[in-house]
Amino acid sequence: MKGYLGLALTLLLCLDLNLIAPVAGDPSLCGLNGCQAIELAKRYTEHTMAKMMRTIKPDALEEVFANMKKLESLVRDVQDLERDVMSLFQPVWPVNGSPARWSMCAEGPCSCMMETQTVSCWRLELQYHVPRKQQIPMDTKILDLSMNRLQFLHKDSFIKLTELQELDLSENSLELMPNSIFYDLENMRHLKLHKNQLLYLSGDLFQDTGALRTIDISFNILENLPETLFKKLHSLYFLNLAYNAITEIPASIFHDLESLEDLDLSVNKIKELPRHAFGNLKVLKRLKLEENELTRLPYGIFDQVTSLQELYLQNNKIETLPMGVFAFLGNLTFLDLTSNQIQVIDYKDFIALRNLRSLFLGQNFITSIKNKTFVGTPNLAKLYLFSNKIESVELAAFSGLNSLSWLLLNNNLLRVLPREIFKRTPSLLRLQIDSNKFMKLPEGILDELKVVEQVKLSMNPWHCDCFILYLTRWLHRNPDKIWDRQPKCRGPGDLGGKPVIDMTFNSVCDGQWASMTKIQGRV
Ligand SMILES: *[C@@H]1O[C@H](CO)[C@@H](O)[C@H](O)[C@H]1NC(C)=O
Ligand SMILES: *[C@@H]1O[C@H](CO)[C@@H](O)[C@H](O)[C@H]1NC(C)=O
Repeated sequence: MKGYLGLALTLLLCLDLNLIAPVAGDPSLCGLNGCQAIELAKRYTEHTMAKMMRTIKPDALEEVFANMKKLESLVRDVQDLERDVMSLFQPVWPVNGSPARWSMCAEGPCSCMMETQTVSCWRLELQYHVPRKQQIPMDTKILDLSMNRLQFLHKDSFIKLTELQELDLSENSLELMPNSIFYDLENMRHLKLHKNQLLYLSGDLFQDTGALRTIDISFNILENLPETLFKKLHSLYFLNLAYNAITEIPASIFHDLESLEDLDLSVNKIKELPRHAFGNLKVLKRLKLEENELTRLPYGIFDQVTSLQELYLQNNKIETLPMGVFAFLGNLTFLDLTSNQIQVIDYKDFIALRNLRSLFLGQNFITSIKNKTFVGTPNLAKLYLFSNKIESVELAAFSGLNSLSWLLLNNNLLRVLPREIFKRTPSLLRLQIDSNKFMKLPEGILDELKVVEQVKLSMNPWHCDCFILYLTRWLHRNPDKIWDRQPKCRGPGDLGGKPVIDMTFNSVCDGQWASMTKIQGRV
């Protein structure tokens, strides 16, 4: 208890001294109104702290934490204020409209190319601001400021650049985009902001940039997105928000993106999706939601995105699939559900996925595959079921999968397979049943694999009694199809460790019927 309290207090002290003091202490900033606010915030912080110190008793933890929350949000406000103030201090480069503008541009440190109307300040070690000695031609189409160390930009940095089509600000240290910074960029088509330190974006940042086609804001530290952020972007077809810390998706944030084809929300902290989040994305082809913290999908979440071709949901914590959740995705070719917590699947989950080619269900908690689970996916080519807890596969589990060429059932708990299981998968080229609990296979089972090229059988406890000779014969007849390693016997006795292919009638059957019945008892 006490240790916790101490920790909380230390944290508070650090927050106060390190974050607020330098801003308030900087006399150069105090000509601005902002400083009064900072001073005020600082005093309030001190007051709250002093009060807290007086009131803390061992049983007052709750109050301490409540105060701490208040204080944290206060500190955040002060930080925001600091950013605003800092960006006001940044110099702005002159935008040049004279006939000599391109040769004047060339006098600065950036490289200027009149033919392509490109200005590149790429990798110039720009630390705090745009170069002071640089002129920017008014008709610049492409402006590259990437790979510098820019922290703040003045809100007027791009003023009058009405012809700008591409702006690259990636790989800097930008913490804030002043909300009117893109005000004049009515023709901007491509915006790169990835690999910065953006914590939030203001809701009207893209108010005037209705021509935008692509935006990349990946690899920042965004936590929340304002609901109105993408309101005007009717031409946007690519939006990358991956590798941030987004926890929530506002319900209507994507509703105006009627041209969006590619949406990347992967590697964030999204716990839940609003039911109509993707409601108006009529032409969306690719949706990436992998590596979030989703535990469930709302009923009907994908019902409107009927053009979807690729859906990435791997590395979440999804436990169950709501009834018919993919039922409207007739164009889906790729569905990745790897590494979730799904326990049960049945035919209703994959109904009407006529064009599905790859289905990833590995690393879940599936225990059995029931008859006809995949009847809704007649064009499936690759089915990944590895690393589950599958103990049983029913005879007609794979029925309807006439085009299936890859079946990965490795790393499960299988002991048996029905004799005619592969009759329903006539196109199988690759089969993995390694790392299961197979001691034997029914006579003739592999003969159904008419066109198979690779079979992986290793890492099973093959029991080398008289029954194993079917597998031995198959191995002899198909030496080029054994993939990776030869399966080995687990036992009995000193046959353990020997390759199954080396078994002979004499070594496993000869006069051993009596002991075999004993062995069978163990199977
Ligand atoms: C699939 O794509 C085609 C054309 O690409 C389109 O006509 C159709 O509406 C789409 N949706 C479904 C559900 O098939
Ligand atoms: C699965 O299908 C097979 C073949 O059609 C049938 O014999 C078996 O009874 C079915 N199993 C169940 C549990 O319905």
